[in-house]
Amino acid sequence: MKNEVLKILKNNIDSYTSGEDLSRILGVSRTSIWKYISSLKKEGYEFDSSTKLGYRLTKCPDILTFNEVEKFLSTSFIGRNYIHFNSIDSTNTKAKDLAKKGSPNGTVVICEEQSNGRGRLGRSWFSPKGKGLYFSIILRPNLSPLDISKLTLVGGAAVWKALSSLNIGSAIKWPNDIFINNRKVSGILTEISGELNQINYAVMGIGINVNTLKSEIPEDLREIATSLLIETNEIIDRKVLLSEILNIFERLYIDFVNSGSLKESLQICRENSLVLNKTLNCISTRESFTAKAKDINDNGELIVELSDGSTKNILCGEISIRNL
Ligand code: BTN
Repeated sequence: MKNEVLKILKNNIDSYTSGEDLSRILGVSRTSIWKYISSLKKEGYEFDSSTKLGYRLTKCPDILTFNEVEKFLSTSFIGRNYIHFNSIDSTNTKAKDLAKKGSPNGTVVICEEQSNGRGRLGRSWFSPKGKGLYFSIILRPNLSPLDISKLTLVGGAAVWKALSSLNIGSAIKWPNDIFINNRKVSGILTEISGELNQINYAVMGIGINVNTLKSEIPEDLREIATSLLIETNEIIDRKVLLSEILNIFERLYIDFVNSGSLKESLQICRENSLVLNKTLNCISTRESFTAKAKDINDNGELIVELSDGSTKNILCGEISIRNL
């Protein structure tokens, strides 16, 4: 009901809506309306209110609730089930829990801050309040666990393309880290649950440093991490960026799961790669070696050339660019 009050006031932004009208339209008491307005104020909404005229919405907060994001979303299923938290340990952990309990394909779990944001290889993800995008998408594709690296490329391509649509240039460090000026601005953690040849569900967690000031980034990360604000000198509207990512992701994801085609995602990853033609240190669970990145193949694997001229396909693992 609180959302209904907000919708009516958003639709009448230029005029006052009386408490009496609100209570009549929604069929609830004037006291209830007053309670909903108080609760919206706590979320950061601001109103002009007058005993004679009623309420007029004057300011919406910078929060990522569905109320704020909906008008920018053009998806059919990604983000249509949308769960927002002010604070949570990790959206990936929560999304896995919800996926286990049956939450539908495309569910988005999002928050303003994470107390235990998780990165790849057991690292943590710095997630200060209201400064970034921290969200996870529950996916139920008909894929084998071996296809997971392809799925991950789709995520990276969607983030790159969304940034590009806001005129922000970036590069993709295979498989899906996004860099600007050689510093990391976004990372993706994809986790799956499945059988030998079938995924039950995948959770794709995306973290982006959006409006973080350099002084707010922990000192030990300052040389390797950056934010969109640091790179562009502009405050970025998080809900616009989020919706752009979800809209683009849905299109690329449908292309991939329906036709098995990674065409556009691969093209984005190849053309905007930070690693192709560079010498890399490659670290997998079994070995570590130096090699030159030659291409990303149609399976999303990185093809590298070793010093003896032989080539290797890397499916997953950690790569670092030498001398960077
Ligand atoms: C990495 O680059 O190591 C991956 C970072 C992924 C961070 C995101 S933030 C939202 C989601 N929830 C998490 O706990 N992690 C991912």
